[in-house]
Amino acid sequence: MSNRRNFIKKSALGTLGVSSLLGCDELNNANIIKTYPRIISTWNHGLEANQKAWEILKNGKGGLSAVEQGVMVSEADPQIRSVGYGGYPDRDGIVTLDACIMDKNSNCGSVSFLQNIKHPISVARHVMEDTPHVMLSGKGALDFAISKGFKQEDLLTDDSRKDWIKWKENSNYKPVINIENHDTISMLLIDDSGDLYGACTTSGAAWKMHGRVGDSPIIGAGLFLDNEVGAAAATGLGEAIIKTSGSAMVVELMRQGASPLEACKTIVKRISKLHKSGPEWDYLQVGFIALNKNGEYAGYSLRKGFNYSLHDEKNKNLLIDAKHEIG
Ligand code: GLY
Repeated sequence: MSNRRNFIKKSALGTLGVSSLLGCDELNNANIIKTYPRIISTWNHGLEANQKAWEILKNGKGGLSAVEQGVMVSEADPQIRSVGYGGYPDRDGIVTLDACIMDKNSNCGSVSFLQNIKHPISVARHVMEDTPHVMLSGKGALDFAISKGFKQEDLLTDDSRKDWIKWKENSNYKPVINIENHDTISMLLIDDSGDLYGACTTSGAAWKMHGRVGDSPIIGAGLFLDNEVGAAAATGLGEAIIKTSGSAMVVELMRQGASPLEACKTIVKRISKLHKSGPEWDYLQVGFIALNKNGEYAGYSLRKGFNYSLHDEKNKNLLIDAKHEIG
C-alpha cells in the first residue's frame, strides 16, 4: 500500500468512531473523509452476515464474494423467517425466493420466484456471470440453478408450516410491520479501493399471493449502485419500493449531492406521500440503507423499528437504529 493510501486509511481510522456514531450524516462537508472498507446491512441479522462478508473481504476474495457469502448466512438460518430456508411461505404454503447481486461495473444478476434452492443469491451471481441476461424467474431460474449443480431441497420448516396453518384460520393479508413487512437482507460494501458491491435476498412478504415478486430481485428497486456515486438498498413492502424505483432514486439523489441520509429520507417521504391515503398505509413500512463513494452511510425508514448493521475496521458488529419519518 502506498504511503499516501496508508495516510488516508490511518486518518480515516482516526475519525471513524465519531463519524460512525453520527452515521456520517451529521458531519459537514469540510469534515468528510474517506472511510472504507465498510459494510452495512439491513436489520440485526446483518450483524452475522457482515461479519462473514468482512472475513471474506479480509481474506482477499473480493467484494462480490464477500456480499454473496455474507447474505448466505441469513439465507441458511431457519430462525430468520423472511429470508431463504425457513422463510414464511406464500398463502399456498410454498416458499418462493427473490435475490439480486450487483458489482462495481454495474454487472448484475437476479432471480425471482425461485423455489427449493437454499441460496438464491448464488444463483443470481451465476445469472450475472454465466448468462447474457440479468434476470431469470420461476421454473427457468430453477432449471438454470439445477444445471449449475444446485440441489433442490424443501425450504418450508416445521415452524413456518405451523405459522402458515395458523394464518390460514383467518387468511387475513395484513403484514405485521417490522416482522412480516419485511426483513429482507440487503448488504452494501465498499472495499479498500473504494469500489462498491451489493446483494439483496428475501423470501418476500409472508402470505403473499402465489407468484408475487417483490422489490428485492429488481435492480433499481431493491438494490442499486453506481460505482461513481454510491449504493442503496431497501427493505419493507416491495410494492411501495417498486413504485418509486426506490434504490435507484436514492443513488440518483446522492449523485446530485445529497448525503446518504438526505437521499434515503427524500425517497421515504415520497413513498409516504404516495401511500398515505391507501389501504396499505396501516401496514406500510419501508427502509433504505445507503453508502456513498466516501464510505459515508445512513439508514432511514418510514416507521420506527428499522435498524441496520455496520461493520468496519473500528466498528465490528454495530447495530444502529435508523432515523424514521413517523412513530
Ligand atoms: N422487500 C421484500 C418484499 O417485499 O418482498
